[in-house]
Amino acid sequence: MAEVIGIANQKGGVGKTTTAVNLAASLALHNKKVLLIDFDPQANATISLGLKRSEIQHSMVAVINGKKKIVEIIQPTLLEGLFIAPTDQNLVAVDADFYRKEKGLREKILANCLEGIRVQYDFIIIDSAPALGPLTINVLVVADSVIIPVQCEYFALDGLAQLLNTIKLLKPASNPKLQIKGFLPTMFSSQNNLSKQVLDELKAFGKFKFFQDKNNNIIVIPRTIKLAEAPSYGKPIALYDKRSTGNIAYMNLAEAILTSKG
Ligand SMILES: Nc1ncnc2c1ncn2[C@@H]1O[C@H](COP(=O)(O)OP(=O)(O)OP(=O)(O)O)[C@@H](O)[C@H]1O
Ligand SMILES: [Mg+2]
Repeated sequence: MAEVIGIANQKGGVGKTTTAVNLAASLALHNKKVLLIDFDPQANATISLGLKRSEIQHSMVAVINGKKKIVEIIQPTLLEGLFIAPTDQNLVAVDADFYRKEKGLREKILANCLEGIRVQYDFIIIDSAPALGPLTINVLVVADSVIIPVQCEYFALDGLAQLLNTIKLLKPASNPKLQIKGFLPTMFSSQNNLSKQVLDELKAFGKFKFFQDKNNNIIVIPRTIKLAEAPSYGKPIALYDKRSTGNIAYMNLAEAILTSKG
């Protein structure tokens, strides 16, 4: 039965998609069967894995609209064991449409679409949009856990309280099993004092759970141009530059998740 992990933070540009794509790829490289669901109308995860907008015939939009089953839109990727459920920009319209549906049902649309396919994967990773609207709520309702990437920059903690509060509010009625799997500091530069300050601030908060590598160091994703370049080649970092510090960090993250899963 797949563990469903949502990647969420309503703040834009914090490394959600980079994390979704590269964590999914790293888990696949650890011999797991992984489905990455792109649930952001920007379709960045879809494009990052080499799919061209013009070549996507059916996407999560058709699934949400009930025109296709999710199995009909899933595509293989360059990496064995990694599959993608692509999306396209029309997911925006779906987002608006949610409000016309009955409350209580509209949060469970994605959950209903995933019924039946959970048995086919070890992990389902879902990339979400930079908003706390219905799309992201649907991700939080179907997920077993959520990873919250936090950019090591000024204002990093802005909005986190709102996200945590949303999770707290929806848990009892909509998804009691939901756990915060961990906070993932991203775009960390060791040269930069601000990065260290932000990390210290996150640690000082005390409430945050981080991921740890084999040596019990907190896993941070370094700022490296290689992670930014890889999507333009339609590849996860592991296939673009295996030796990159970015790849090592995401491989460590996958390992931490696999170890904690037991
Ligand atoms: N560790 C990193 N080092 C360097 N660049 C990075 C790193 N992580 C992400 N980036 C770059 O920063 C930008 C934002 O990252 P990404 O798209 O993953 O964020 P996001 O949270 O998904 O954004 P959005 O909220 O728009 O969906 C991208 O151009 C990405 O390539
Ligand atoms: Mg994104």
